[in-house]
Amino acid sequence: MHFELSEEQQMIRQAARDFAQNELKPGVIDRDEHQKFPAEQVKKLGELGFLGMMVDPKYDGGGMDSVSYALVMEELSKVDASASVVVSVNNSLVCYGLEKYGTEAQKEKYLKPLAAGTQIGAFCLSEPEAGSDATSQQTTAEDKGDYYLLNGTKNWITNGSTASTYLVIAQTHKELKHKGINAFIVEKGTPGFTIGPKENKLGIRGSDTHSLMFNDVKVPKENRIGEDGFGFKFAMKTLEGGRIGIAAQALGIAAGAYELALAYSKERKAFGKPISDHQAIAFKLADMATQIEAARLLVHKAAWLKDQGLSYTLEGSMAKLFASKVAMDVTVEAVQIHGGYGFVKEYHVERLMRDAKITQIYEGTSEIQKLVISRSVLG
Ligand code: CAA
Repeated sequence: MHFELSEEQQMIRQAARDFAQNELKPGVIDRDEHQKFPAEQVKKLGELGFLGMMVDPKYDGGGMDSVSYALVMEELSKVDASASVVVSVNNSLVCYGLEKYGTEAQKEKYLKPLAAGTQIGAFCLSEPEAGSDATSQQTTAEDKGDYYLLNGTKNWITNGSTASTYLVIAQTHKELKHKGINAFIVEKGTPGFTIGPKENKLGIRGSDTHSLMFNDVKVPKENRIGEDGFGFKFAMKTLEGGRIGIAAQALGIAAGAYELALAYSKERKAFGKPISDHQAIAFKLADMATQIEAARLLVHKAAWLKDQGLSYTLEGSMAKLFASKVAMDVTVEAVQIHGGYGFVKEYHVERLMRDAKITQIYEGTSEIQKLVISRSVLG
């Protein structure tokens, strides 16, 4: 067992770190305040190969491993979680799902531009009445012979208006429950497919979150992913990898807040010395550093398992559960260490604290991760 990153992984991490500092940091406060999607930055992330970084180069991807992906997610999320969630959804939920389960024709047509980063995708599972209880899909996909007729509403869809390609989960055979669910590729602009207004959120305010409405949308049969009834398993398998990405995002949010608090504590003086020289602050920093390192080990282990082709269901959920709790705890402490400055936008930590919360909610709440973990440990 060794814990060292390869030279290539270190270079990828450095590239992401530089990008975060040079391209994401300027303007991040403004984008958060005005809910502006980081369009220009996402385009550059695509040019750098970060939007389809794990996809095989034969489909225009970067051919990198999951550990590298976790490193990139951590570095980007230290600065801008609204940008990193685009990287996460496009890589883990959309590109992975298409590469692993799509047909050659689907990969040629849809995966290639997503992997090359010239387009972005969205993953559409959640509904007004089906969040954690994902088997209760109300969106229907009626089999009409050579096409499916899609009807229903999806909620909280990341990249909702900016995506070109949408992976939509819907119920085809209601009586078969989760075994009657299918996953479809739906193109933006298909008649009957409309996009609701952007959600006004607590955190990741730059990210593009919408409801989507499908009203008699015709989806060609060749756009179904996998065998008839494979949709629920498709969603579960893609979400497993997604949880590694979101765990790495949570880790990055925590690490970003910690780095800011550490630097501030050495500059800020109280009672005649830097506040880092007061044990009340030094012990907070010690706790934060330890929690972050433990989260990083869980995230890297889950990513490594995936790279080895081993099961990572349990470890991905553990990583997400733990790292998202660390993100909340560490960002709250980072604000506390900053005192009054932590409460104003210029110091970044209040935004990181707001951004942290979503990591305990999306791609499965903390309660869902505990369900997955407890089922596994109880056998
Ligand atoms: N891999 C493969 N198959 C799986 C699986 C997995 N990880 N998890 C479940 N399944 C299969 C089961 O084996 C079972 O199949 P069989 O009947 O053939 O045995 C079937 O799926 C149903 O499983 P369960 O009985 O366990 O289903 P359940 O309803 O009790 O619970 C759940 C499943 C884990 C709670 C699941 O519903 C779940 O993960 N819910 C959370 C959904 C979620 O994460 N939503 C996030 C939305 S996407 C998002 O947030 C993206 C974004 O924008 C950033």
